[in-house]
This record gives sequence, C-alpha cells and structure tokens, in this order.
Amino acid sequence: MMKRLNAPARLMIVSDLDHTMVDHHDPENMSLLRFNALWEACYRHDSLLVFSTGRSRTLYKQLRKEKPMLTPDITIMSVGTEITYGTSMVPDDGWVEVLNQKWDRNTVTEETSKFSELTLQSETEQRPHKVSFYVDKDKAQDVTKALSEIFAKRGLDVKIIYSGGMDLDILPQGAGKGQALAYLHKKFKAEGKLPTNTLVCGDSGNDAELFSIPDVHGVMVSNAQEELLQWHAENAKGNPKIIHATERCAAGIIQAIGHFNLGPNTSPRDITNFSDSELENVSASSEIVKFFLFYERWRRAEVENCEIYLASVKADCDASGILVHPSGAELPLCGAITGMRNYYGDKQGQQFRVWVDRVLSTQTGLDTWLVKFNKWELSGDEQQGCVITCIINMKKDGVSRATYMHVHETWLEGSGAKDQSTWLF
Ligand code: GLC
Ligand code: MG
Repeated sequence: MMKRLNAPARLMIVSDLDHTMVDHHDPENMSLLRFNALWEACYRHDSLLVFSTGRSRTLYKQLRKEKPMLTPDITIMSVGTEITYGTSMVPDDGWVEVLNQKWDRNTVTEETSKFSELTLQSETEQRPHKVSFYVDKDKAQDVTKALSEIFAKRGLDVKIIYSGGMDLDILPQGAGKGQALAYLHKKFKAEGKLPTNTLVCGDSGNDAELFSIPDVHGVMVSNAQEELLQWHAENAKGNPKIIHATERCAAGIIQAIGHFNLGPNTSPRDITNFSDSELENVSASSEIVKFFLFYERWRRAEVENCEIYLASVKADCDASGILVHPSGAELPLCGAITGMRNYYGDKQGQQFRVWVDRVLSTQTGLDTWLVKFNKWELSGDEQQGCVITCIINMKKDGVSRATYMHVHETWLEGSGAKDQSTWLF
C-alpha cells in the first residue's frame, strides 16, 4: 500500500485538517507553512503524512485550493469511512468491504427523517458509509440518545459522533477515524512496517477515537473544542502520551513533536540566519527548503539587500549549470541567481508565499542526488506551481555542501503562471 518506504516509517503523523492542520483564523497560514517546511526538510523522505478529515473528497479538494497544504501519503476522508493512497488517491477497497458488513444505510435515513431537530447536511457530505446532519448544541445529547435506542431496537450497530458543536455523523460501528487508523496499523504490521512512532492530532469530537488507539502519541491543539477536552477528561486524563498543546493548530503539532521527542522540531521558517545554520542535518531536501525560503524572503525584502547573499547562493551553483525555465527558455544557473537582484523587495508588503511539496531524492552516484518536488507560489489571489527536477551534488568534506548542477522546471497541469517573466525559479 505504501511502496514509497521500504522500511517502517520513522514517524507517522495522522492529523485532522479543519482547525488542526489548517487554521481558519490565520489568513497568513503561518503555522501551516512552518509545519510544511519542517516536514519537507526533515521528515518527507522517511516518514508518513496522513490527513484524516470529516470532509468528503469534494470538500477536501476545495480546501486544498484555499490553503497551502502538502500532499499526504494517505488521505482518510468522510470521518474514517474512505481511505485512499498516494497522489492519485487510490481507494482501499478492503476497507469498503469491512464497512459494508452490518450496515444498512436505508434504515438510518428512514429513522433519522422522523427527527425535526436534524437538518441534513449538503449532498456532497452524504456518503455510502456516512449520513450527516446539523443539530443544535443543546439538543445534541437527547437526539443522540433517542437515536441510539431506536437503532438498537432495529438491530443496527451504528456510531453516532457529535463534532464542532454542530455536526452529527452516523457511521457503521466499525468506522470512524480511530478504526481507520487501527486498520492501517494492522496492515503496516502485516508488512513488517509498523511506524516507529505515530502522532495523532485533532481538535474536535470526531478526533476523540484517534487518541484511544494503543501506543500512539496524541496532541489536542490549544484551540480544541469543548467536546474533545471533555472526552479526554473522562477517558484519558492520566495518559502521559496525550497533551493539550498551548499552541494553536499546526504550531501545536510542532510543539508535540518536540514534547515527545519524535525528531527535529525546528522549522526552517523559524531560522532567520542560515549562515550559522541551526539546522541539524544537512540534506538535499533541507537545502531545497532553505533556498526557496531565502527566495521568498528576498522578494518580500525580509532579508537584507546584500550582494553577499547572492554570491553565496551562486557559489552553490555549478559554473556550467543550466536552468530550464517552465517557459522552455534555458539560462545559466548563475545568471538566474544574478537576475534576482532586480526583484529584491518586489513583493514587499504583499501576499507572497513560496512552499515546496513532495520533496523526494534518489541517490544516483557517490555524492549525486536526483531531487524531484513541486514548488508553489501564492501571489495575491493567484497560485502557481511547477514540478522541479534537479541534480544536486552533496560534498561531505567536513561541512556538507550542496551544489546545484542542473534544474528543470515544468508547469504543473493547469497551474502555469500568466506572467511568466516574474517566475524566476
Ligand atoms: C466535516 C464534514 C461534515 C462532518 C464534519 C464532522 O465538516 O464535511 O460532513 O459532519 O466534518 O465530522
Ligand atoms: Mg477539526
């Protein structure tokens, strides 16, 4: 199922999206961008990123358009009722089989239609193994109790989950975010690839069962909903493997990585001076993340307008290295760096963010790496992206140093820049 890794993942992060990975109250998306940089620089190559959301595929895709999100290895949607793998989101049919047992959707819709307190959610959120409503906070408990009794009487074993003080989901008893994770753990174990550590992250009611899966570390972000905190107080109070972060959303996830000692927890975005780099291990991936961070800060005028910076980047480029621009134009790498001079601060005071996704490298020689990744730019309301393939030389003479040999860019389908002239890399 996860062919990319041929050893157990060092860390598997299983995170909810809304109000956990994604902060809807932060238009700058700072904590998400900090997490992204950390993940790509230090974890992507040997760890697994799993998004577990209540959203259907339709609303998940919508969120991806609105927020600078990474591509997860596994996507669990519709409250643990749909599991998909990889970029092409291949569904796990075995999971569908499991859920089909003892599930009678018609009985659920028939009985729930008798409750005037229940308002059906949009059509996109009604799924084969999920029926979803809105219900007022003060009526939720009574309705849940009444429904449970009716379903029990009709011999139907269902799970009723209340989230965010408004959403009521009805699923097969064996479904849910926790059960979906247990299913994945079982599958990985069978392949001898149970992740060394698993960190679950959530903020609301449908996340609660993630925290009851054996052996996982868990973080309830600082902004967690009352219903999750209450569940924790009643069910997991003394468990030292679960924390309530003091930081919001993705910043709370980074905090938990540090708290549980799960690996590096300094995001490259938190480093302001790369020359006396505090980054623990230098790798092709971390070099890429650092370069595009510098590029963002250069154009936002958040680093000094200093020739030394450009000279030091140029020193990391092979003298005969070539950049193939997504327009098809070819230019010397060093020339492209020099060209940055004219763009210092051109995005100052504007919305301008750059991030990389799916940074994966393959060693092709003694100290040569082929690195492939997606690079995104958000400028104002426009988001553009390209695939970058580059050849990097990593010398290990005392201090490791990356030399860019060749860089090739191609527009991601449908994401080409309208004005290609301001797309430097
Ligand atoms: C998401 C889904 C919704 C569900 C809620 C809580 O918002 O779109 O259908 O009820 O999560 O699980
Ligand atoms: Mg949430």
